[in-house]
Amino acid sequence: MGDEAVPWRTAMADALYGPTGFFTRAAPGGEQAGGPTGHFRTSAHASPLFATAMLRLVAAVDETLGRPDPLDVVDVGAGGGHLLRRLVGLAPAYLARRLRLTAVELAPPPADLPAEIRWWAELPAVGSLTGLVLGTEWLDNVPLDVAEVGEDGVLRYRLVEPLTGEESPGDPISGEDAQWVQQWWSATPPGPGRRIELGTPRDRAWAAAVAGLDVGLAITVDYGHLSSSRPETGTLTGFYAGRPAEAVPDGSRDITAHVAIDSARAAGEAAAGEPGTVTRQREALLALGVDGARPPVDLAARDPAAYVGALSAASQAAELMDAGGLGGHYWIVQPVGLVLEALPTGLRPA
Ligand SMILES: C[S@@+](CC[C@H](N)C(=O)[O-])C[C@H]1O[C@@H](n2cnc3c(N)ncnc32)[C@H](O)[C@@H]1O
Repeated sequence: MGDEAVPWRTAMADALYGPTGFFTRAAPGGEQAGGPTGHFRTSAHASPLFATAMLRLVAAVDETLGRPDPLDVVDVGAGGGHLLRRLVGLAPAYLARRLRLTAVELAPPPADLPAEIRWWAELPAVGSLTGLVLGTEWLDNVPLDVAEVGEDGVLRYRLVEPLTGEESPGDPISGEDAQWVQQWWSATPPGPGRRIELGTPRDRAWAAAVAGLDVGLAITVDYGHLSSSRPETGTLTGFYAGRPAEAVPDGSRDITAHVAIDSARAAGEAAAGEPGTVTRQREALLALGVDGARPPVDLAARDPAAYVGALSAASQAAELMDAGGLGGHYWIVQPVGLVLEALPTGLRPA
């Protein structure tokens, strides 16, 4: 990692996934060892209820596919494998014996990885999967370029010095990036200082994940924006020790930018050859039966232990469904050759 200014996509790739990158230099899941998961909290970490909801989908897809053997569940950008570990523990025996769980992760596997989970650095081959492909807060970490409108009204790539985060203008944007802006960001009126995070690499990443499925369901969960609500000054940010920090791509912190959800969805639809749907996590979890309601107070007198258990579940559900936090995350739900009745109404394409 030098001190020369480079495009943001290069800087982010190096800072997160290079030899001394934030995600790749240490085994994930090692909070105690100062590993990456100490710097963020995703739905997969927040509560086992998230995995329980995913298991409902896994079971629904399994049934509609006629209980295939194996049934794939691939977690792309699996981090420390939290979601898959929970599925190992939760899956009933009839399903567990056919489940083929794969973590796709650029970081090395954690030392205590359960034997049931395969750990791959790359996506499985095109059309090789029967089952589900999942991603939680993966696409926001896919490196991308950033552009900014200068005083002269020209939209140029931004260059960044990795060790300081200092930026300077580069060449005018061109090629597929210019096309992408035209298609997906043109609703934002141009003006000096407007920043655009160029989503093509995320679109491609999501399309590749969807393309892994021969038949099944792909879901990605992330924070993001739609054409109607693009941020004017960008969302690129760092996360250090669980708090937002300056986006300095020096390898010391997570670097992330919100996902252009509608363009990613379109890329997934093109890969699948059929419509997908977009919803918010709050609605998705409601559709999957997660209930954030507090237990009745009189339960405390009748059955104190049950009351405490129900209260704890309700507060976990509340965190996952908080519209200003995890509940506001988008879900892109992309079926591939699946009988749509398998999905709860809220997750079915119209
Ligand atoms: C914010 S973490 C989320 C981890 C996990 N999904 C969770 O919810 O806790 C993003 C993860 O995506 C991984 N990642 C990003 N791009 C990847 C790629 N192309 N292939 C595999 N893993 C990737 C990173 O290494 C990182 O561990």
